[in-house]
Amino acid sequence: MSTTDQTVVRLEDYRPPAYLIDRVDLDVRLHPSATRVTAVLAIRPAEGTPAGTPLVLDGDGLRLEHLLLDGRSPEPEAYAASPVALTLHCPPAQPFRLEIETVINPEANSALMGLYRSSGTYCTQCEAEGFRRITYFLDRPDVLAVYTTRIEADRTEAPVLLGNGNPVEAGPIAGTERHYAIWHDPHPKPAYLFALVAGRLASVHDTFTTRSGRLVRLAIHVEPGKEDMCGWAMDSLKRSMAWDEHVFGLEYDLDVFNIVAVSDFNMGAMENKGLNIFNDKYVLADPETATDQDYGHVEAVIAHEYFHNWTGNRITCRDWFQLCLKEGLTVFRDQEFSSDMRSRPVKRIADVRMLKSHQFPEDAGPLAHPVRPRAYREINNFYTATVYEKGAEVVRMLKTLLGAEDFAAGMALYIRRHDGDAATIEQFLACFAEAGGRDLEQFALWYEQAGTPRLEVTSAHDPDTATLSLTLTQSLGPTPGQASKLPMLIPVRLGLIGPEGADIGLRPRERDRVQGDVLLLSERSQTFTFDGVTERPVLSLLRGFSAPVTVNATPSPADLLFLLQHDSDPFNRWQAAQDLATRELMRLYAARRKGDVLAVDAALVSALGDVLTDEDLDPAFRAQVLHLPGEADLARDIGRDVDPDAILSARTQLRHAIGRAHGQTFASLADRLGRRPFAPDAADAGERALKGLCLAYLAVSDQDTRADIIARHAREADNMTDRIAALSVLVHEHLAGADTALAAFERRHAGHPLAMDKWFTVQATSPHAGTLTIVDALTRHPAFDWTNPNRVRALVGAFTTGNQSQFTRPDGAGFVYLGDVVERLDQRNPQLAARLVSAFRSWQALEPKRAALAEGVLSKLAGRATLSKDTRDIVERCLA
Ligand code: PHE
Ligand code: ZN
Repeated sequence: MSTTDQTVVRLEDYRPPAYLIDRVDLDVRLHPSATRVTAVLAIRPAEGTPAGTPLVLDGDGLRLEHLLLDGRSPEPEAYAASPVALTLHCPPAQPFRLEIETVINPEANSALMGLYRSSGTYCTQCEAEGFRRITYFLDRPDVLAVYTTRIEADRTEAPVLLGNGNPVEAGPIAGTERHYAIWHDPHPKPAYLFALVAGRLASVHDTFTTRSGRLVRLAIHVEPGKEDMCGWAMDSLKRSMAWDEHVFGLEYDLDVFNIVAVSDFNMGAMENKGLNIFNDKYVLADPETATDQDYGHVEAVIAHEYFHNWTGNRITCRDWFQLCLKEGLTVFRDQEFSSDMRSRPVKRIADVRMLKSHQFPEDAGPLAHPVRPRAYREINNFYTATVYEKGAEVVRMLKTLLGAEDFAAGMALYIRRHDGDAATIEQFLACFAEAGGRDLEQFALWYEQAGTPRLEVTSAHDPDTATLSLTLTQSLGPTPGQASKLPMLIPVRLGLIGPEGADIGLRPRERDRVQGDVLLLSERSQTFTFDGVTERPVLSLLRGFSAPVTVNATPSPADLLFLLQHDSDPFNRWQAAQDLATRELMRLYAARRKGDVLAVDAALVSALGDVLTDEDLDPAFRAQVLHLPGEADLARDIGRDVDPDAILSARTQLRHAIGRAHGQTFASLADRLGRRPFAPDAADAGERALKGLCLAYLAVSDQDTRADIIARHAREADNMTDRIAALSVLVHEHLAGADTALAAFERRHAGHPLAMDKWFTVQATSPHAGTLTIVDALTRHPAFDWTNPNRVRALVGAFTTGNQSQFTRPDGAGFVYLGDVVERLDQRNPQLAARLVSAFRSWQALEPKRAALAEGVLSKLAGRATLSKDTRDIVERCLA
């Protein structure tokens, strides 16, 4: 351990930069294997930097070709150059100019960081520390410079040349096959927002006029032939731009906005100033190849990257510990955007589902870390559900606590005060404290303390005095590096529901601790007393999921059924159904672990049937209610000594009971729903979601013709949503017709990698004993490609994170397989390997035999001398 410990970066060690870089003039002469980069940097010592302080520029795998200091070659003893640093031992005390020439090899760059090629297109990825793979630089987010970039390339190889900011000039280079373009970005930015793209790209164009009258030329660049698949992304972009003006008063600030879709990308997308680069799966969409979910993701990711222009770019992060400053806030903003575009309750349910299934397990295992971490060995490993999704929840709680108006005032102050800054969480919170006249000191613990707080709730109703008293107790267990925790400020939105199903107005005694319908829990334990409660109410706790906590109340099944029927808060209606299902699943699971099989609770099955047929409810909402908690959700709730096979059988048993009870209804709804020609709007998508769910239950009903009906849906579907829904039911339920449908899908989509990803995923997530063998065989399928992160995630990632029972096979073969894949990928693409290996993060919760097998694979990986820093970090934290 001690050798790796030395490389820990700590928040408390932050020091402002000793030197600043005001301007960067880049000249990039592109060549597949020898791209020549000349960087001219206008540098000056920061105020207070003692004369003679060495200047250390970051590098990563660089070789210095030439160096000029104020136009002259420095003496050899005046500097030192290595692959990872360029040091000037005693730079001038006055502003000076450094000219640095490096030669890099984009073709050999398989890590997809820095300058690389994706299907022949040159592109860059610089967040978090990729710019240092292009040239030596102060590669830290608090060094902001104005960039001018000249890009030069072969005219046929790269007719399109794109940079940050606005285009300045372009033209041929006389007497050669080459041409150039110059881009200038007037907004100072950190190096991680730098980008360039060059290639043979097609594009679609549009315009947007900002409310103050700036005409912005919009373009989306894609591989030729994919232009028809950009319409939805462009539409989403224009709606995002209008929404940010309308809701946050934020306008775009350049004359052009370019989006480029590339097929090789480690993450979702990147907010480079004026030149967003996307994983193509978040740009390309048409009904034939994209599902409703894909449409939703494209809309959200386009919005997210666009919104970064203010929350991330105009105001950036002082250091990488502040990552949630831009990410949590921007996720919050994109969630709000999607809520306004679609159904707010359904979006909230989907977001909370995602938080609970991705972030809660992270917070409960060895990889748990605060929303603002205090230490890291590899920053790439901190682009996590905690930083993003929990970070967004923290901003949402801030809005709940302050109210919409003060929250808006705080945002406005933040933008006004920090435009152009590299800011911190403290500065962000100070704006809200000031705008809302509040002390947010305790609230700030949400950024500091890892783990999911647990709320215990007890209540007592006294009919004689017509009072209800409610005692809330919070606790937060230890997480890595944090043994004991302080109580947090938890906003608990509450409803009291009377016997007729209507909300009772809240008359709290502790008026200073209750804001409207939000209880402010700040002590370890607090009692709230409500007057005028004549009859025993049913509690609706944590409405809208007002805080990212788990609740331990013990409502009776009757109360939960009552909530499912009557709660005025749609989120809690959904939550009640989830709680009922979870309880039942836990009961079935416990029995199965003892070798027993119990009968399924008929009341639950019938209540779900009522929701299914309630035509007053939005179909998307009904689909969410009938969608049972996933295997991973149950594993998380069980917490220890987890037996994934028993979880699977409990869940299968309940699904079958529901399917059998309402088979007829599922059949007729599947037939009736979603028959209009495809449109990606929320209403139609909701119908298709319910239809897909009906097919899944129909498959486990006792309707004789079920396999035929589902196979027909797969065959006749005129859009990907319906087609893949039917296909996955056929495959996962081993129905007759599955192989035919798989073959038909393969023929139909052979030429379209993103569609084939779904075909891989369907097979990788099948909960059957042969799946691992199939996954391995599919890695030799012509459509599979180990070098493409989307392919690897669609097949191997889907298997390890979307197929609990098979990944955790009792013989350990799933673990061994992942270990082998990680070894195979680690040298090529460490970020991808590190992400895959984090599928082990909940290994300690497994029953002892499986846990030992997982630990064995992790230990073997840890013993590899050549492991990348990225993967080693995850492996060692999993084992710690
Ligand atoms: N900043 C990107 C986003 O959230 C994510 C990203 C991180 C992309 C690192 C690439 C590399 O929007
Ligand atoms: Zn982001």
